[in-house]
Amino acid sequence: MNLPKISTGTAQSAERVHMPQTLPMIAGNWKMNGLKASLEVATAIAAASAEARADVVIFPPFTLIGQMAEALKGSHVSIGGQDCHTETHGAYTGDISAAMLADMGASHVLLGHSERRLVHGEACALVARKVQAALKAGLEPVICIGETLEQRLSGLTTDVLLNQLRDSLPDDLETASFHIAYEPVWAIGTGHSASDEQIIEAVAVIRKFLSHRFAGAPHPHILYGGSVNAENAGHLLGLEGIGGALVGGASLKAESFLKIIEAAG
Ligand code: PGA
Repeated sequence: MNLPKISTGTAQSAERVHMPQTLPMIAGNWKMNGLKASLEVATAIAAASAEARADVVIFPPFTLIGQMAEALKGSHVSIGGQDCHTETHGAYTGDISAAMLADMGASHVLLGHSERRLVHGEACALVARKVQAALKAGLEPVICIGETLEQRLSGLTTDVLLNQLRDSLPDDLETASFHIAYEPVWAIGTGHSASDEQIIEAVAVIRKFLSHRFAGAPHPHILYGGSVNAENAGHLLGLEGIGGALVGGASLKAESFLKIIEAAG
């Protein structure tokens, strides 16, 4: 896999490469939150957003996937896992395979979230193998990338994003449906989203990389994640090149998540 030579992007360079033709994707990452009672939140979201002009995906903890898939059957809301193993089955205590997620009714999987990369020490090469496993199971991967504050302050953001893209995306994606979430680590759960300029620049870098590397691939959504909430969603979703949002904290309550879904329309 060769790293294409890409200059730091601008809003203009984002315009030159293909843009998503599909509805924006609004994804709710529940992280390690949610008990059986939280299924009500998911059904409320599905009921109130039936007319939404957005692809809505909820990523609940593993324990709720089966019941949520059952509860949302026939609705427009898709369900995803927050991680998967590289293998289909075997002696991997505590792990969940992509095939198991699909079997429970999931259609998507989040891979390479910074909380997996940093807390669980997941390297890009492992993320790439998980992406391959997800594709084999028929899941659409949402692959997360993003720089730490230290990397941004050292002027390394573009290099970090390009390295993560090069090493976390297997060649198999050429013919697959997938999505990229740009989530600056310093913006996650802090209440401080990245600035317009920072987001537009990162998205332009990502889009240019994708158009070089996967010229024939279906148009991936590029989501922004990091302190997206009911108040800032409309603005963030309107930024050049943004195809949706990956929402953590604000996806746990139907009221705030519904406002974000509404903002996408
Ligand atoms: P946040 O989390 O919206 O709470 O910042 C986003 C994420 O980690 O995906």
